[in-house]
Amino acid sequence: MTTKRARLLPGNKEFDVHEHESVLDAALRAGLTLGYSCSNGSCGECRAILVEGELKRCSHYDYVFSEAEKNQGYVLLCSFTAQTNIVVEAATAQGVEDLPIQQIRTTVSKIDRVDERTIILHLKTPRSQSLRFFAGQHVTLNLSNGIMRNKSVASCPCNARFLQFHIHNAPGDEFADYVFNKLRAFDAITIEGPWGVFTLDDNSTRPIILLAYETGFAPFQSILEHAIALKLSQPIHLYWLVDNPGRHYLDNYIRSWVDALDNFQYTTLVAHEKLEDEGLTQERRIAALTEAGHQIIKDHPNLSGHDIYMCGPDSLTHAAVQLLLDRGLQEGHLLIDAVKRL
Ligand code: FES
Repeated sequence: MTTKRARLLPGNKEFDVHEHESVLDAALRAGLTLGYSCSNGSCGECRAILVEGELKRCSHYDYVFSEAEKNQGYVLLCSFTAQTNIVVEAATAQGVEDLPIQQIRTTVSKIDRVDERTIILHLKTPRSQSLRFFAGQHVTLNLSNGIMRNKSVASCPCNARFLQFHIHNAPGDEFADYVFNKLRAFDAITIEGPWGVFTLDDNSTRPIILLAYETGFAPFQSILEHAIALKLSQPIHLYWLVDNPGRHYLDNYIRSWVDALDNFQYTTLVAHEKLEDEGLTQERRIAALTEAGHQIIKDHPNLSGHDIYMCGPDSLTHAAVQLLLDRGLQEGHLLIDAVKRL
């Protein structure tokens, strides 16, 4: 397989384009946030200027360029692959405000029960309508019976047709009850979003610390997969706190990153050593978050140069915050996804 090198202006981000792969797919695989919509040559949203090199058409397109666009050298990145090394100029989404709110009818492709209390729900979008979002954002899932819930997207924006969500089976949660007991493969779920500003600052070169509580790990799966796609080089340390032993439901997957990445550390934390302690109190959970904060301080005594991301219920995450600020963490470098949708 021959591979060509592409450089994107502005910003000079570089990525590989495989033979027969569209430049758009290659850029998305590399974690870049290019504008696009249909992915099939109809809408013109992936228009870009070819600055250097040669392209070859790899799929049919219907979009009709204006004379001005033709004169400026516009091409469709979803319909062309790289014939030589190339330089293209295209607009990228810089922040969440640059992304449209989308409504997409997806289908359930897999219901993966990873332990007694957790399902990883896999949804597939239509080929012509993948979800544009930043790693860490959430969407609203609308079930066919009218129940809806906001959930963090757990998969990488670089794989925007195949979405994952972590569903926790909380007692009395009618959404979780439906997913665990009634939802079937090929059922339809309409998603709306993306929402939220809990996203990776990929312009920062500061070391990153992630602290997740239970299924608050979901946005961090997306952020970590995105960081890997972008080949971020700064150290990343993930702390994952769960209520009971055995609740790190993606432990093996995360440990594969430890083996594969030079600068990735992973620390598991457990609030209560007793297996499935139903009597785990809010006080015990808050104490565990505080202990997690102490563990971070022990591992990273000076936090002044770090970015910290935390995801867990509002009532819990604040327990660790003051500790970390006292250790030099700058408030602007702390991002919290304090959610009620875990
Ligand atoms: S994404 Fe619609 S034409 Fe390329």
